[in-house]
Amino acid sequence: MDSDKKVNLTQNFRDKIDPKSQFLKKKIPGVKKIVAIASAKGGVGKSTICANLAVASAKRNYSIGLLDADVYGPSIPDLFGAFEKPTADENKKLNPIIRQNLKLISMGFLIEKNSPMVWRGPMVISAIKSFLNNVNWGELDCLFVDLPPGTGDAILTFAQELDVSSSIIITTPQKLSITDANRGIEMFKKTNIPVLGVIENMSFISDQNNNKSYPFGENGADQLCKDQKVDLLDKIRIDETFNLCTNNGVVYESLAEDIKIQFSKISEKIIG
Ligand SMILES: Nc1ncnc2c1ncn2[C@@H]1O[C@H](COP(=O)(O)OP(=O)(O)OP(=O)(O)O)[C@@H](O)[C@H]1O
Ligand SMILES: [Mg+2]
Repeated sequence: MDSDKKVNLTQNFRDKIDPKSQFLKKKIPGVKKIVAIASAKGGVGKSTICANLAVASAKRNYSIGLLDADVYGPSIPDLFGAFEKPTADENKKLNPIIRQNLKLISMGFLIEKNSPMVWRGPMVISAIKSFLNNVNWGELDCLFVDLPPGTGDAILTFAQELDVSSSIIITTPQKLSITDANRGIEMFKKTNIPVLGVIENMSFISDQNNNKSYPFGENGADQLCKDQKVDLLDKIRIDETFNLCTNNGVVYESLAEDIKIQFSKISEKIIG
């Protein structure tokens, strides 16, 4: 790439994330708090963590919604075993699907299963705007948003359009993931969204004698948090009970008890 092009791209990006640009940050009426769950790298467990935090929060008697903003690869339908189409109310607003005391909305509810997600930037933006403005969320203590990986159009739309209360970054301890998590934190800082903290997922494996091994390396998120001056909210180990839950299409219930407690404690840090 020649240097002119490089400068242009950078300027383009700056224009896009300028908080004073064409967007006005909106609140969703009735929604007290919006928490974005993000990771710049794919496949680090963002949807899994987001869904479990949402259920753990609902179990603490909060009124919770979960918006699956990953229009490229929605996972919420599979995680919750929810594939029905949402109905609309008299004002043509979508009624969320209810599972495990949560209000859920996902692009996966609106398209045929297995159909490829081919989106151009403007389509992504209008799909997300429509989720924000045309869903009957009702009264919520907290809306968790499962963002797509990367720092692309979908996330920028979110950051610019919506009055997001805070963000949580998910990463594994692995170097490639940490590099991307750094980018994610920088992006939120630039868009004036507070980063509540980092959750290190897939941190280690524990055997029956509680001996730990570290397939993705050790302490990656500790260093990241130190460098970026953000909190490390917790470390979640690799555990087969996550797979058990997904196979049953029910979030949280079949998890190891100590991991359930971890999610509940993280929820306290997020919602109080
Ligand atoms: N701590 C864990 N222990 C075991 N398996 C896990 C753990 N966290 C996530 N997984 C598994 O890893 C896979 C990827 O997780 P998930 O889909 O939540 O990641 P993601 O970051 O949302 O991915 P994408 O970038 O594609 O949206 C899933 O099969 C999930 O069950
Ligand atoms: Mg996901």
